[in-house]
Order: sequence, then structure tokens, then C-alpha cells
Amino acid sequence: MTAAVPTPSRIATLQQAERERFIAAHPRSLAQAEAARAHYLFGVPLHWMRDWPTPATLAVLRAQGATLTCADGLRYADFCLGDTGAMFGHSPAPLAHAIAEQAAQGLTCMLPSTRTVAVGEALERVFGLPMWQMALSASDANRFVLRWARAITQRPTLLVFDGCYHGAVDDTLVDLDPATGATVARGSVLGQVHDHHAHTRVVPFNDLAALEAALAPGDVACLLAEPALTNFGLVPPAEGFWPAARALCRRHGSLFVMDETHTVSTALGGYARAHGLDPDVLVVGKAVAGGLPCAVYGFTHAVAQRMVAAKVQAPEGHSGIGTTLAGNPLALAALDAALTHLHTAPNYRHMHALATELEEGLVCRIGAAQQAWTVTRLGARLELQFMPHTPRHAQDVRDMANSDLEALTHLFMLNRGVLLTPFHSMMLVSPETTEADVATLFAVFDELLIALRG
Ligand SMILES: Cc1ncc(COP(=O)(O)O)c(C=O)c1O
Repeated sequence: MTAAVPTPSRIATLQQAERERFIAAHPRSLAQAEAARAHYLFGVPLHWMRDWPTPATLAVLRAQGATLTCADGLRYADFCLGDTGAMFGHSPAPLAHAIAEQAAQGLTCMLPSTRTVAVGEALERVFGLPMWQMALSASDANRFVLRWARAITQRPTLLVFDGCYHGAVDDTLVDLDPATGATVARGSVLGQVHDHHAHTRVVPFNDLAALEAALAPGDVACLLAEPALTNFGLVPPAEGFWPAARALCRRHGSLFVMDETHTVSTALGGYARAHGLDPDVLVVGKAVAGGLPCAVYGFTHAVAQRMVAAKVQAPEGHSGIGTTLAGNPLALAALDAALTHLHTAPNYRHMHALATELEEGLVCRIGAAQQAWTVTRLGARLELQFMPHTPRHAQDVRDMANSDLEALTHLFMLNRGVLLTPFHSMMLVSPETTEADVATLFAVFDELLIALRG
């Protein structure tokens, strides 16, 4: 037996009350939001900061450990953690020290620093691939990987999954038209003039037959994929999906590229390493250097040889790959500290133990309240899904999501000191997250369930 689904009018009434509560409690954030309109589009330095479901943008005074303090002096147990950038906590001490020390000794030189060798060894130790290049963001890294893949295979087409997000990478911002099965431009993308979907193919996640059909023409440079979809709710791979998908890529001569920018939360070294997926290329951004702007991509010796061949055969000049500040000494110092002190087995043990506790507590509460909701967990990352089962692909999410209830949940929890990741209901556990943070989340979730019952 399940309880009645909260009605749209009940959700709307609660949402209005939460908006008023937010406004009353955040005069300083409101004042900043208003004043910042004079100089910033939508009053924020990055327009999507305005997409949190709050009446005005929360202004951050400081963020330390797993706690965020807003301009009004209110404290939040932060389960958003900068949407994974701060997965190891905000400003972890070893990272803050390394950055401060390097900051006094040179920020950028367009030359490798003396840490380069040690960082390369640490990247191989943590992620398992021998060869590396750096970028400033995961978006950049994905864009560069795509360019390399096309250059070395001499093939034009990119293959991605429906519901994917790999950053501001034009070629990947495409969708699957459910009616026709065709690849179409993503309607929300601004200023797009190139016909990117002509060179990108999209298939449903967890669908091996569709994957095989997309690879069959032999024109696919690479499959670019997250090990689990983490940007369309959380959609885990079906049992046996990845070994079969990898075999298909190999059979058809397409590179198998794993974007671990979010799934690095799965285990030390990421999902692919933990599950022996053996990718040709691996991308990690956001938390790889503890949140300092930096991303890396690693690859096998075989891929490296093909990259070298492509580069030496090309005419001298711009490769279209790389940006001036990439691999700068500050990023290398942060990477060095992060790979040594943050990407560690004890940190992951803590994250997994608390994430398991969080999963079990939420499942138990959802069951007691007889709601047909689901909790899906991948290592330290959990998704609260207002649907009766874990989705298998993006279309499941489109069919079952309840965005009004999701928005209410965010604001309700934020108003009571708990931050979830906006755009979906993701909770990430850091090494700095405490039992007390989890207990706070449970107490607020209990309150939400009571409020929804009316
Ligand atoms: C899987 C994945 N790849 C790449 C990116 C892009 O990261 P960034 O915005 O730091 O470039 C994101 C951002 O959410 C992501 O989730």
C-alpha cells in the first residue's frame, strides 16, 4: 500500500510558505541579490547560480568542511558540495596550505613546474592510466579529448547517451527525439548555429542493441560516457552493460572514453577503476584538485602513440587543443596535495559508511511514510527520486519525475539548514560530513514527510 501522492495544490501551498520563510530569514542575501543586479546578469556572476529554487540567490559568507555559512549567518549542512567540486570538503587543510605556499611562488608560467613528474606518478597511482594532459575544467578536457579522438581515428562522429551532460561542449548538447529516435539539438542551448547533431549520435543508456546499431557504420570516433548518468537524476548501469559496451566499442574501432567528473565519488580512482572497465581515455574535473579549477585526462600508451602521430603529421600551428593557463604551477600544487591527501582509502571509507547510513535512513523513512519514492546510491553519491523505481534511462526520468515536489524539497530543506544539489536531488557525502549532518538531514526529511501529509 502506498500513501496518496502529494497533490499539486498541496505542494504549491507549501512552496509559497517556504518562499515566505526564506525571504524572512535572509535579508542580507536578498539585499545582495538586489544590489548585484547592477553589474551581473540575473544578479549573479554565473547565470545558472540563479537556478536554485530560492526566491533570491543565497550569498555565501564562507564554506569550510561540509558546512556553508550564508550572508545572514545561517549555517547549512552542505550535501551539494559545489555539485562535486568540493566533494572532499570545502578548503581541506592540506589543499589550502599547498595553494597558499605555491601562490607566493608563481601562479602561471606556460612551463611545467618541478612537481610535474610526481603528479604524473600520482595520477597513474590513483586512476590507473599512464599518460596525462591537463585542462582548466572538465568541459575543456572533454572538448580536447573529443578533438584528439577525431584526429587519431580520422572519424567524424561522436556517440553519447540520451540525458548526458559533459559540460559546455557543443557536440554533446543533443537529445534523442523519443518519437523518431533521431538525434536533435537540445532546445535549451543558446546561440547554437552549427549543425552539431549531424556529427553526434545519441542512444538510450543501458541499451546495447541501440549502441551496436550506432557503432555499426564504423564512423564513430569515440563513445563519451559517464559510467552512470549523474546529470539526469542518477541512472546506474545495468549488470553487464559496460563490459559489453566496451567490447562493442573495441570491435568497431571506436575509443571508449569515460567521463568520471562526477562518478569519481564511486570509489578511490573512480567507477571505471573500481569495476575494471579499462577505458582508452578517462576524464576527471571538478574535485580532482579539490575544487581548484583543474581537470585532467588520462590515456593508454597506445592512444598516446596515436596522438603523437596525429600531432607530428599535422602542419605547424594551432592544434585547437589546450588553453594558456592549463597545467599551471598552482593547479599542479593543488593536484599534488589532493592526490596525496584527499584521494585516499580512509576518506572513501568514511564517505561510503555515511552514505550507506544516509541511504538506509531515507529508504526506511520513505517506506514508513508509504511513499513510492526511490533512493539510488553510487558510492558517496545518492539521489532521492520521486518515482517508484530506479530509472534505466533518461526517458524513464522524463516520464516519472515530479519537478514541483523536487523544488519544494530543496527549499524546505534549505530553509532548515540542509543543502541538496539543485536541478535534481543529489546528496554527496564528503570526508568532512559528520553523523550530526546526517541526523540533521533525517530530522528535516521527517518534517517534510509530515508537512506533505497535511
Ligand atoms: C560528467 C560531467 N562532465 C563534465 C562536466 C563539466 O564540468 P565543468 O562545468 O567544471 O566544466 C560536468 C558538470 O557538471 C559533469 O557533470
